[in-house]
Amino acid sequence: MSARWTIQERTTPNPTKLAEDVRQGLSQSPVSIPPKWFYDEKGSQLFDEITELAEYYPTRTEQAILEQHADELPAVDTLVELGAGYSRKTRLLLESLTRGGRALHFVPLDVSAEPLLDAALRITADFPTVTVTGVVADFDDELAPLPGTPGTRMVAFLGSTIGNLTPAPRRAFLQRLHRATDPGDWFLLGADLVKDPERLVRAYDDARGVTAAFNKNVIEVLARELDANLTADDFDHVARYDTELERIEMRLRARRAMTVNLKGLDLAWHLAEGEEILTETSAKFRVEGLRSELGDAGFEVVTTWTDPAGDFSLTLSKRL
Ligand code: SAH
Ligand code: AVI
Repeated sequence: MSARWTIQERTTPNPTKLAEDVRQGLSQSPVSIPPKWFYDEKGSQLFDEITELAEYYPTRTEQAILEQHADELPAVDTLVELGAGYSRKTRLLLESLTRGGRALHFVPLDVSAEPLLDAALRITADFPTVTVTGVVADFDDELAPLPGTPGTRMVAFLGSTIGNLTPAPRRAFLQRLHRATDPGDWFLLGADLVKDPERLVRAYDDARGVTAAFNKNVIEVLARELDANLTADDFDHVARYDTELERIEMRLRARRAMTVNLKGLDLAWHLAEGEEILTETSAKFRVEGLRSELGDAGFEVVTTWTDPAGDFSLTLSKRL
């Protein structure tokens, strides 16, 4: 019997791309590094640990919404998942979409290869009618071509990863998704909602320090990939809620002044004591705003489900 899974590499994260992002980030104020660089093998594992934290409500809340509504989703032949990670919650979609022995092509796409491989092995073992094509790719790049027959696909983007894009890149992302899909395809979007700022900050600054370790892991990635004299212990984890922009910002604050030699970039970076590096923004949405962003990009909203407390949303739309 041939294996029912395969992994394709469209693009792999590499030091040249990281160097380009850092060079660009150094020209911004505050200096910023795109969050995709959190997710080396260790970063992906730390994020997985975050999803189990008492303070981090999004994963279990989205899971509960999926448990309640997965059976209301349309039958499709291909399920594409963007920023799939370990695809744990996605199993609820797979259960529903393969009910009665239906065949399904599952296409998890992620910049991080390790979780894709882990998911491909587990899912083919547990779902006999699913074939898996894992795609190592950056969703900041063009998404086309997507596997599957036009009009029979569903693209899932769970976990509120869309919130890690600021408004202009988010618009561009939805336009890329529109270009990569066809009329009649479905889009299932998980998005975190605006709520009490104190609860939000706790979700991004947990008592055990797992989120701090996740944030600081980007320093280890920079040190390793760009041959830089950086140490995670020289930074403090900062999580703040911006009530105007309605987003969490994760930053790393330098504990001391330092000159960082970025050998991979052939440049010296001077950091003042207390200076902050912006490592992630995590937007919190309002249902109406999300629906209008989807509509503007050519997706007709069919329904939005939320949990009873209104903490998280799952929106199903159809590509026009
Ligand atoms: N969907 C999962 C994982 C969310 S964590 C969940 O809901 O729990 C965010 C995931 O997106 C990580 O697996 C990370 O590697 C991936 N990711 C982040 N930026 C990306 C990018 N630019 N392109 C592709 N994947 C990306
Ligand atoms: C993947 N993403 C949606 C997470 C979030 O909540 O913004 C990443 C994360 N950062 C800190 N904790 C979790």
